[in-house]
Amino acid sequence: MKKIIIEGNKILSGKIKIGGAKNSVVALIPAAIMAKGKVKITNVPNISDKDALLEILKLLNVDVQKSSNTIEIDATNVKNCLIPENLSNKLRASYYFMGALLSRFKKVEMYFPGGCNIGSRPIDLHLKGFESLGAKITKEGSKYIIEAENLQGTNIFLDFASVGATVNIMIAATMATGTTKIYNAAREAEICNIAELLNNMGANIIGAGTDEITIEGVKELHSAEIKVIPDRIEAGTYIIMGALLGENLIIEGMIPEHNIVLLNKLQEMGVNFKIQNHKMILNKSSNLKPTNIRTVVYPGFPTDLGQPIAVLLTQANGVSLFEETIWENRMGHVKYLNMMGANIIAERQHAKIIGPTKLHGAEITATDLRAGAALVTAGLIAEGTTIINDAEHILRGYERIIKKLSSVGANIKIVEV
Ligand code: EPZ
Repeated sequence: MKKIIIEGNKILSGKIKIGGAKNSVVALIPAAIMAKGKVKITNVPNISDKDALLEILKLLNVDVQKSSNTIEIDATNVKNCLIPENLSNKLRASYYFMGALLSRFKKVEMYFPGGCNIGSRPIDLHLKGFESLGAKITKEGSKYIIEAENLQGTNIFLDFASVGATVNIMIAATMATGTTKIYNAAREAEICNIAELLNNMGANIIGAGTDEITIEGVKELHSAEIKVIPDRIEAGTYIIMGALLGENLIIEGMIPEHNIVLLNKLQEMGVNFKIQNHKMILNKSSNLKPTNIRTVVYPGFPTDLGQPIAVLLTQANGVSLFEETIWENRMGHVKYLNMMGANIIAERQHAKIIGPTKLHGAEITATDLRAGAALVTAGLIAEGTTIINDAEHILRGYERIIKKLSSVGANIKIVEV
């Protein structure tokens, strides 16, 4: 097990470069296997979720060439075979292989386990989309067999603007016969990145980024290249850290427009930041004002920053109210922040955060990726030593987090125990 150890209350000053978006690359990699030829993905983040997907590519006999932040995927000789649970359960986004294999082979067999720490995480909307396209779904325990004579374009109405379902249906529909329209589609920035790759591969998709996406089916997909967009959640996490400890902390290689709602909230709180093109400059802000936050689908406040920003709210002068509306169990960080001296009263998906409170080091545990990011943020501002167990969760989505934070002055290390 990996532990992160932090000596807190060190000023963060210097440059942090944002990497490629986890929630893009985990869809770009499966999508690439639909091309008859090479797909080159650049600005790939160095995160464990990416490695887990490359293991599935290996199982499918897909050729992968890796060099620093670039991977070349050649699925010319791909073999469609059962994807076992030990591979698919490493990350939820393995479900994108359902859309990709169904699209290319009209059949996919894979184990797909249920929920995780932040909720039940069903995939009913994905499956309903595949059925609307003409697929038949058989479920044996946690094994799914999804097959279709052919995939026929149709209108699909999502009950909820699900990111995963939007992407998976978009992928499955690229080579369907005729036109597919997805209504109430998710609008996250990553969806535009994935649609861009599919169009570069010869697909015909319009409307990505809006709540109505139209996919004209094409016969086949070919070689292409794509650059992963910057990770807006990684950027948002470091921005929050800069608001707490920055002294000219520069966050570069980001797209501020992707974080506009976070920046609006930081402005409301009186956080000291400047935007210059693709970078932001953060300075430690005293006298923070409390605010209320409700996480909603894009372009609203992102659920993935709900846990990191809770740490900032513990330092505000007054009471902040927080509501998580996307996931039913995303309060894993609260117990540990309170152990460090925070004053958070959480009830199901609501939390009342009373600040300011002085945080002190403690031995705590990361329950999931973004709760882990919140605990790192708390450890950075706490007096004394913080030990974060189960740090593997954090490495899933934050590339080189120890190196990036150490390079701007944090006293942080990771140990294997
Ligand atoms: C994506 O998850 C992200 N993951 C999540 O980020 C993010 O929190 C989420 O979108 C919302 O923005 C990736 O992109 C890999 P959803 P996804 O489908 O696609 C319900 C992180 O920390 N739902 O938009 O799984 C679901 O239960 C991760 O980087 C159904 O009911 O999210 C949840 O309540 C965590 N049926 C809500 O929709 C379905 O078929 C949001 O799910 C699908 C989803």
